[in-house]
Amino acid sequence: MQSLSAHPDHAILWRENRLYLLDQRQLPARETFLALETAPETARAIRDMVVRGAPAIGIAAAYGVVLAARARYEASKARWKQEIAADLEQLAAARPTAVNLFWALRRMNRRIADLAAGDPVPHLLAEAQAIHREDREANRRMGELGAALIRSPSAVLTHCNAGALATGGYGTALGVIRSAFAQGKIPRVYVDETRPWLQGSRLTAWELQRSDIPVVLQAEGAAASLLAQGAVDWVIVGADRIAANGDVANKIGTYGLALLARHHGVRFMVVAPTSTIDGALARGADIPIETRDPEELLRCGGQRLAPAGVAARNPVFDVTPAEYIDALVTEQGVLTPPSPAGVESLLKRAEGAAKSPQGSA
Ligand code: MRU
Repeated sequence: MQSLSAHPDHAILWRENRLYLLDQRQLPARETFLALETAPETARAIRDMVVRGAPAIGIAAAYGVVLAARARYEASKARWKQEIAADLEQLAAARPTAVNLFWALRRMNRRIADLAAGDPVPHLLAEAQAIHREDREANRRMGELGAALIRSPSAVLTHCNAGALATGGYGTALGVIRSAFAQGKIPRVYVDETRPWLQGSRLTAWELQRSDIPVVLQAEGAAASLLAQGAVDWVIVGADRIAANGDVANKIGTYGLALLARHHGVRFMVVAPTSTIDGALARGADIPIETRDPEELLRCGGQRLAPAGVAARNPVFDVTPAEYIDALVTEQGVLTPPSPAGVESLLKRAEGAAKSPQGSA
C-alpha cells in the first residue's frame, strides 16, 4: 500500500479494518506492505516469513483472530465461537518454535470465551492492540534493564534479527543495543549475516542503519576470530522459546556463539519478554525445532547455489543451555544467570502484572 511508509517500528499495522504487514521477504530491496483480510491469509504470511520474529508472530496472529472473528460472526451469529476454533488451529500451525504464537492465541481465546452476545470484533481488536502495545512497552523496559548491564565502551555482536521488525517495535536484543547506544556505551554493532535467510544482513543491518547506529556485517563463520581478538564485550540475542530451566531456543547458530563466547570470556545476554517463556517445558531438549524447506539453503536470490540433487538440512533454531547464558533480560527483571527458580519467579511476576490494573511491563 503506497500511503504506508516503511519504518521498522511500524511493520505491523491495523488500518481500515485490515492487517498490513511490511513484507520482510522483500527487505531491504523493496519496502512494501501486504494487506490481509482473512485468518488463512495471516497464517500463510506467518508461515512464509512475511512477518517473523517470535513476538511479531504472536502479534500478527492476534490480529488474525480479529479477522477470523469478523468472518465467522458475519457467517453465523449463533455458531461463530465454535467455528473460530478451526482458524485458531490454522494460525497455531503456521510455525512451531516461537511460543509467543501460542501464548497470543491462548490470550485471544480466553477473551473469546469471556465475550457475551454481540459483535466480538471491537473487543478482540482491543485485545490484539493491547498485546501489541504491551510488547512495545516490554521492549522499552528491557532496553533499560539490559543497557544497565553494559559498561562503556562495549562492542557487541548480535545474531539474526531481534529488532523492531521482530516485535511490536523497538526490539528485544536490538532494544538493549538501541538503549545502550543512546547512552553512548556502544561504538559499533557487529551483525552476523545469519544464513540461510539472512535476517542479519537484510533486516538487522537495515534497522540499525535507519537508526544511525554503526553496523559491521560479517559471515557467522567470522565470529570465532572476532571474539578471539577480544573485539567484542557482549553477545546479545533474542529468543523464540525459553524452557523452565532457562535453556533458550533461538536462531540456528546461537548455540555455537554461546560456546564461543564462554571460551573467549565474552558475556552472553538473552533478551526476551516473559511471553517467550514456556513454563510447561522442563528443558530446552523438549522445545520443538522447526525444519524449513532445504531450498532456502540451496538457493539464494532465485539462483541455485549447490549442484542439483544435493541433499541439505535446514533446522532453523538451536538450543543454548542455560549454563552458557550470563544474563536473561525480561520486562519483569533480569536473571544473572538464569535458573529454574529465577524463571519461575519471572513467570509469577508476569502473572501478577497481568492481573493488576496497571497491566504488564
Ligand atoms: O526464523 P525467524 O526469523 O522467525 O527467527 C527469529 C529469531 O530467531 C529471533 O532471534 C527471535 O525470534 C527473537 S525476535 C525478538
